[in-house]
Amino acid sequence: MKYFNSNYFTYRNNQLFCEEVPIQKIIKKVGTPAYIYSKKFFIDRYNEFTEAFKNVNHSIFFAIKSNFNLNVIKLFSNLSAGLDVNSAGELHRALKIGINPQKLLFSGVGKTRREIEEALKNNVLMLKAESEEEIYLIDQIAHQLAKVAPLAIRVNPNVDAQTHPYISTGLAKNKFGISSDEALRIYKDAAKLKNVRPVGIDMHIGSQITSIEPYKEAVQKMADLFFEIKANGIELEHFDIGGGMGVTYNDEIPFKPKELAEAILPTLKKLNCEIMFEPGRFLSANGGILATEILYTKKNGDKNFLVVDASMTDILRPSIYGAYHHIQPIEKNGTDDIIADVVGPVCESGDFVAKDREIVKCKSGEFLAIMSAGAYSMVMSSNYNGRRRGPEIIVDKDKFFITRSRETFEHLLYDEKIINELF
Ligand code: LLP
Repeated sequence: MKYFNSNYFTYRNNQLFCEEVPIQKIIKKVGTPAYIYSKKFFIDRYNEFTEAFKNVNHSIFFAIKSNFNLNVIKLFSNLSAGLDVNSAGELHRALKIGINPQKLLFSGVGKTRREIEEALKNNVLMLKAESEEEIYLIDQIAHQLAKVAPLAIRVNPNVDAQTHPYISTGLAKNKFGISSDEALRIYKDAAKLKNVRPVGIDMHIGSQITSIEPYKEAVQKMADLFFEIKANGIELEHFDIGGGMGVTYNDEIPFKPKELAEAILPTLKKLNCEIMFEPGRFLSANGGILATEILYTKKNGDKNFLVVDASMTDILRPSIYGAYHHIQPIEKNGTDDIIADVVGPVCESGDFVAKDREIVKCKSGEFLAIMSAGAYSMVMSSNYNGRRRGPEIIVDKDKFFITRSRETFEHLLYDEKIINELF
């Protein structure tokens, strides 16, 4: 079987550790399934990214849709990151850590009137509009609030990010942004409005992008547009490249931030404005695992199954994108490998974590680590089948902290009540 190569999740005497803490020690306390994150990973990744672009005026806005744990976002914020939020719910979380709203970007293809109001009332650094209608609505709401809305327009550069179709966003056929052919006219129209001020241009071409080419192509197209806009008297202060930088889940070899910087810096420097990035996955994915217990092992015909206590409600990526996550024992015992499906308890055939996976032979009662669960895992969890969301733990050297406990059954009922008149 293959093991994930990490400096943050390592084996010592056959026991999997996160930093200096044995995973066994954590799950003894909190049970499974449980999300476990390495603080050092987040710090090192952020530093690697910002270091790569140190020669240009830039800011990093962590896309909290990838991991919105309050402590994770506070960690990034303390490292001087801003945050990219995609809804009023994410804005609420971001404000909860006491961040300066001038370090917030408000994204989203379908912002509601209420979300626009909240963003403006809280004075976020900028709203990124994705349609003409939205620009007019922002202008109208800003007028009512007697404000001028700082605006970026998300332009769709029509570039193929060469990633999974569900997470590709920069093609003309995708729902995101406005068409690059129309962008100049729309900027000129927006500049005439009284209550919006175009301050930036934005792109985000997709997620889990492992090759530099799509970025080079898109950045060049957007830079051309930036200068056209400038030639029309509109001075933009920010050029936002979005996120999307890919990571290793299986055997992908993604580019390093330094390589991306080498490829696009010459273009970026010419712009002479602030460059923004919105990485999510790059900063978080490989910094977490989902620990799970093997409930049962069985064989149906020739097929081996490991039935574990984590499911599509805890990590949805395999079910919806066929995504690959390494799965490895938390205590290495066996040596022989088998081929097995690793499946959860939910009543769906689509509820699997891995299919036909070569994995060391293990027994019920043993624990497995589903690797690279620091991004798009907890945040995509659900209560389907009446399942409670698991706890989130952050490890800092030889200490671990429970940042969020497992939900209780009462949480699942929230304010649901029996209406007597119905009976
Ligand atoms: N900015 C915008 C406007 C975005 O829509 C996204 C992600 C990001 C930044 C951050 O992208 P990242 O650096 O994390 O690739 N659930 C999928 C990923 C969906 C990404 C959506 N947008 C997955 O599990 O692979």
